[in-house]
Amino acid sequence: MRKRILTGDRPTGKLHLGHLFGSLKNRVALQEKYETYILIADVQALTDNFLNPQKVRENVLEVAMDNLAVGINPNIATLCVQSLIPEIAELTVFFSNLVTIARLERNPTVKEEIKQKANLFKKGVTMGFLGYPVSQAADILSFRAEIVPVGADQLPMIEQTREIVHKFNSIYGKTFNLPKAIVSKFKRIKGLDGKAKMGKSLDNAIFLADSPQEIERKIMKAFTDPKKIYKNDKGHPLNCVVYQYQQIFSSAEELESIKERCERGKLGCVECKKDLVKKIVAYLEPIREKRHYFEKRPSLVEEILLTGTKKARKITQETMVIVRKKMRIDYFRF
Ligand code: TRP
Repeated sequence: MRKRILTGDRPTGKLHLGHLFGSLKNRVALQEKYETYILIADVQALTDNFLNPQKVRENVLEVAMDNLAVGINPNIATLCVQSLIPEIAELTVFFSNLVTIARLERNPTVKEEIKQKANLFKKGVTMGFLGYPVSQAADILSFRAEIVPVGADQLPMIEQTREIVHKFNSIYGKTFNLPKAIVSKFKRIKGLDGKAKMGKSLDNAIFLADSPQEIERKIMKAFTDPKKIYKNDKGHPLNCVVYQYQQIFSSAEELESIKERCERGKLGCVECKKDLVKKIVAYLEPIREKRHYFEKRPSLVEEILLTGTKKARKITQETMVIVRKKMRIDYFRF
C-alpha cells in the first residue's frame, strides 16, 4: 500500500515563488508515488485572520487554482477544504489535552509569528492561535499521514505532531504512526526587497498568477548590491537579491557569465534585471496558462474541492472510529 501524504496551505493570499520552491514543486513530484491529500487550511487561516473572513473565503479558490496550475493532478491527488472536515476539529480537542501551554509557547514558528502579529494580539494571544500547532497535528493525523512535504519553517509543527503521537500512543495504545517531514531541497527564496521571506503583503513577492508586466515591475525595483551604483561599478553578486534569483533561473554557464561580468563592472543591474524578467516570465508561462484555464472555470474548481473533500472525509471518519475506540468513548453506534 502506498504511504499517505498530507500537506496544506493557508488561504490568505495567492501563492508565490516562495511557495513554488518551498513546497509546491515537492508535492507535485511526490503525488504519483504517495496517496496525496492537500488541505486548504481555512480554519488555520482564520486563527490570525478572524477579523477578515472575506479574505480567507476569496483565497480558498485561488489557492486551489495555484495548486492545479503548478501540476497537482486532481485525478491522482486530492484537494480538500479544512472547515468541511469537522473530524479535524474534533481530534484537535482530544489532542489539546496532551499539550501544555508552555510547550506551545516554546514552538519557534509560533513564537516568531506572535512577534510579527504583536498588533493583532496586543490584548493577548488567542487560544486558537497559540493552539494551531495542535490543530495542524490533527490535520496530519486525522488522515493518518506518514509523509508531510513542507517548507523548512514548518519543521517545528511536525516535531510537535510527533510528540503528540508519542503521547497519544503511550496513553491510549498504539494508534498513529510517526509522520515524517520531507523538506524542499531549495534554499528559501528571499523577498525582492532583500527581506528574509517573500511575503504576501510587502509587495516583495512574485505570484504564480502575476502577469509579465507585474513581474517586470517588481523585478525592476528589486534590491541589488548596495555598493554597485553605476553600471560600470564592480558588483558583489553574493550580496545581491537579483543574483540569488538568477541562481534559480539560469543555467550554470549563464550564471558564471553573469557573475563574472557583474564582478568586472561589465554588466549593469538594469540589463541583469531585464534578463531575469525574461527568464521568470518564460518559466511561469505554462503555469499562468494552466491557471487561466481554471480561472475561466470556477465551477470546475469547486467541483474538484467538493469531490476531494468528500473523499477526504471518508478517511478522517475512519480515523475517528479508531480514536474513539482507543479513548474509550465508543459508547454505542448511532
Ligand atoms: N501551516 C502551514 C503553512 O503555513 C499550512 C498547513 C496547514 C499545513 N495544515 C497543514 C502544512 C498540515 C502541512 C500539514 O504553510
